[in-house]
Amino acid sequence: MSPKLGVCYYPEHWPEERWAKDAKRMVATGLTYVRIGEFAWAELEPEPGELNFNWLDRAIEILGKNGLRVVLGTPTATPPRWMVNRHPDMLALDATGQPRTFGSRRHYCFSHQGYRDACIRIVRILGDRYGKNPHIAAWQIDNEFGCHDTTLSYSPAAADAFREWLKYHYRSIEKLNRAWGNVFWSMTADNWFDIGLPNQTVTEPNPAHALAFRRFSSDQVATFNRAQVEELRNLTEAPILHNYMGRETAFDHFTVGEDLDIATWDSYPIGFLSDRLEDPPEHKARYLRQGDPDFQAFHHDLYRAVGHGRWWVMEQQPGPVNWAPHNPAPLKGMARLWAWEAIAHGADAVCYFRWRQAPMAQEQMHAALIRPDNEDAPVMEEIAQLAQEVVQLKDNTPLQARIGIVFDYVSAWAWQVQPHGADFDYFRLVFEVYRTLRKLGQNIDILPPDQSDLSGYDLVLAPGLFELDQNLMAALSSFDGTALIGPRTNTRTANFAIPVPLPPNLPDLDIKIFQTESLPPQGPIGLANGGTLIKWFEHLEGDAEVMERTTDGLPAMVRSGGLSYLAGWPDEAAMTRILTRALEAAELPITRMPEGLRQRDLTYHRVYVNYSATAQTVDGLTVPGAGVAVKRRSS
Ligand code: GAL
Repeated sequence: MSPKLGVCYYPEHWPEERWAKDAKRMVATGLTYVRIGEFAWAELEPEPGELNFNWLDRAIEILGKNGLRVVLGTPTATPPRWMVNRHPDMLALDATGQPRTFGSRRHYCFSHQGYRDACIRIVRILGDRYGKNPHIAAWQIDNEFGCHDTTLSYSPAAADAFREWLKYHYRSIEKLNRAWGNVFWSMTADNWFDIGLPNQTVTEPNPAHALAFRRFSSDQVATFNRAQVEELRNLTEAPILHNYMGRETAFDHFTVGEDLDIATWDSYPIGFLSDRLEDPPEHKARYLRQGDPDFQAFHHDLYRAVGHGRWWVMEQQPGPVNWAPHNPAPLKGMARLWAWEAIAHGADAVCYFRWRQAPMAQEQMHAALIRPDNEDAPVMEEIAQLAQEVVQLKDNTPLQARIGIVFDYVSAWAWQVQPHGADFDYFRLVFEVYRTLRKLGQNIDILPPDQSDLSGYDLVLAPGLFELDQNLMAALSSFDGTALIGPRTNTRTANFAIPVPLPPNLPDLDIKIFQTESLPPQGPIGLANGGTLIKWFEHLEGDAEVMERTTDGLPAMVRSGGLSYLAGWPDEAAMTRILTRALEAAELPITRMPEGLRQRDLTYHRVYVNYSATAQTVDGLTVPGAGVAVKRRSS
């Protein structure tokens, strides 16, 4: 299938006379999809019960008649003011107990039943009206769950729902006390009402309590989404999706994805580099106008997994954004490159955010495809070129990767609850593994933590996994490829205790972690083969074969057959060596990619994207700075 392009549009922001002109111009640009409606609740229902859908009827009709396919959002990310007046207790409370008030967006607590009911009602009304509308290509639920740190709420509604969740999961208060180890510090609860939320404690709360609250909060997002999906399923056959974010780990996207047909995400490469990556200033300077060469790809692969193979970019950066600490303009070519990169990872559609720059309100400094005065913004030239190119690509099926990296949201929460070292970040650990493999020219799949089938893979990696799921454990024990796990993998029970026998407890690998230390930036541990361990080191005992030692002779990586355990967080040099050896063991060909150049295989094509500002050459092919090359694959 040829990938499609699209755009996010807000008809309610513009006079109605403009809609048809806008639609025609979108089609002339080569766009197929237009996403609308996700923030329009107050326009659809200005007063409680006073419905005003005529404008949306006309907007859908005009867009559709002009040849666009509409993605319709449910408007539940922006409850109108009257809703908050009606339910003042629907606001989330932050960890200090302060309400997160009306006046921007996402001002709701996922646990508030009154708000949930109101959402179901508006979704039903929308589904009744547009469920069979031929112009609706898909439905988007809400917008960016978790955005602006909104997954966790410490409201009374959340506290009540948390207690219900605990009752369901633990059955009796005695079981909960035992499971959490509440005997420690006299924390024993006599009844469910004794259990509050794990905020505002004098020092850290019990990690078992804190992790239970994180699991609960994630489940609240999933059930909030599910309730809307169930309502719509009765009313439409169009696919249902949600648009996720970059480096957002507060809820389990795999769980939410189970209820949906397509995963989409919002890709803002330059904003992410400024706002969401810890890399050194030289790296940020080098990629200032391009974004990090691996961050987008990681999310493309992640959301391909969350969407079970069906995924899009719903919002692609078109120029400077408004929300990062600094917001430089992209190099010419990047808007095309980012889209090609998504397509190379199997995206069925790439939609830009947004059609016309808003002259008013919060996002007036956010670029768009056209300017507030209706002239083309600089990016339009690239999009026109891209539109002509993508129709020529007849098949965008990604080649099955031979490498799988496990990604697990519970692990992200667990190591936030108990970092042990201030800079131990689960996402970062997995991302460094991913990035190193991409620099070695690899195609990668991201796998969910309960993956039970590893038969398509030659190399599987599971760094930092809190607890090894039984399915994955069974799959690993019969896996005949190369597996590299650790550091920190399988080191806790589901209730956040150290298991005995001591971890990592892997079949066939005779090792125990008997002591764990975290390392400050000034205290790395040297490795005998070169490079260092940073942030983290686990002291191992046992008889497994030692592959890496510290300069003091302590085991740092061990193996038995194809299964290896890595007992620390390697710096770049050590990570490259360790992963090169793993690729060699798995007999996967290595291409050392030049600075900023990356490759990804579709079934019939290899796509090269050059994040560097200057031309780079690999395998005899030169790709211009901020440029793209697409080559037919030989096999
Ligand atoms: C996304 C969001 C959009 C818009 C955009 C600006 O996070 O979904 O509504 O705010 O960012 O970059």
